[in-house]
Amino acid sequence: MFVESLKCIECGREYAPNAIVYTCEACGGLLDVTYDYSRLEASKLLEIWSRRPLSVWKYQELLPADSSRKVSLGEGGTGLHRCSRLASKLGVKELYVKNEGENPTGSFKDRGMTIGVTKAVELGAKATACASTGNTSASLAAYSAKAGLPCLVIVPSGKIARGKLVQAVAHGAKVLAIKGSFDDALKEVRKLCEKRGLYLLNSVNPFRLEGQKTLAYEVCEQLGRRVPDRIVLPVGNAGNISAIWKGFKELRELGITRETPKMMGVQAEGAAPFAHMILQNLDKLTPLDKPETVASAIRIGAPVNWSKAKAAVVESKGGVTVVSDEEIVDAQRELARLEGLFVEPASAASIAGLVKMLEQGVISRDETIVCVATGHGLKDPDIVVRFYEEPFEVESSRVEEVVGRVLGCG
Ligand code: F0G
Repeated sequence: MFVESLKCIECGREYAPNAIVYTCEACGGLLDVTYDYSRLEASKLLEIWSRRPLSVWKYQELLPADSSRKVSLGEGGTGLHRCSRLASKLGVKELYVKNEGENPTGSFKDRGMTIGVTKAVELGAKATACASTGNTSASLAAYSAKAGLPCLVIVPSGKIARGKLVQAVAHGAKVLAIKGSFDDALKEVRKLCEKRGLYLLNSVNPFRLEGQKTLAYEVCEQLGRRVPDRIVLPVGNAGNISAIWKGFKELRELGITRETPKMMGVQAEGAAPFAHMILQNLDKLTPLDKPETVASAIRIGAPVNWSKAKAAVVESKGGVTVVSDEEIVDAQRELARLEGLFVEPASAASIAGLVKMLEQGVISRDETIVCVATGHGLKDPDIVVRFYEEPFEVESSRVEEVVGRVLGCG
């Protein structure tokens, strides 16, 4: 392994890579995993990688966990789908969707959890824990089960999608539903982890984000060692945008690519503290008390990774936008019907955001664009039932007549 340390992004204080520390003990800043890139040679890496299948662990030289002890369910290697029908509707030259719903538990969280839970085992953790809007808990529950570790998840009561809750329960996690928001749940679980020695696997855990950065390596490889002009993705707790940016920066640092993409974050109208900070050019994030959106995965008022994410947007010369719930559901339907990709509402925010940024002239139509679809549509079936049209109920004797009427071919 080529890991050097855990380094505070605010004050620069360093911690040993095997320390159980989530934020800087001196200043409370977020931590980043640092590597000795000088010991890694691009040509050698490319040669080794060319012999391995597309997956998170393909890139083990740039990961902080011991691959010989990996806790894996076959994560990563998701499709980068060229979306020609949607592209032509939007008038865009080259549009792709990186479909993270193809991961083992149906979301991008698995990229982080395979590393985070492997690390938990390495560090001798007795149990894992997280707060969640749904997907983190589903993923952590599955990987903890695979590792044989007890798992505690705290979710905001009545506020997470059914499919995700069911996954956590199925994998045997202890699920506490608290009266409050995701942000309240995260505060509680952080306190618990400090006091009881549970291993925290929210995205404040720097090791978890290392797994998530592999999306950048995969996109580059799937485009034939090309870097897109833009990556468009939903922002909740703001870990993923930070992680993916790090991945692209590393490829440039190693001399594997020369360019980096502009990172474009999308938030939902009722839960957009990060977007507002960027749009208003503020130094600090002002948390939102009661976030609300149909996209429950990103219903977050106090994104813990805001400072890393701000750096990602600023350094990459990217941007942010805000979309309404209606735009999110419309985008979800469009993607499902034009491209055969059924994604959950938070994921569709990336498409809704693209539409908006094209209209605003922020993104131009001749760019190469990758939208990240972060989770599978089946996670949240109730949205479809609520917002799409009802199925037709019909007596069996009238099927032919009704079909003729409905399909206009009677
Ligand atoms: N999309 C989906 C489907 C998510 O589940 C999440 C986050 C995000 C986007 C936002 O990613 O937090 O890295 O900015 N879900 C977390 C959870 C918070 O608990 O499952 P982020």
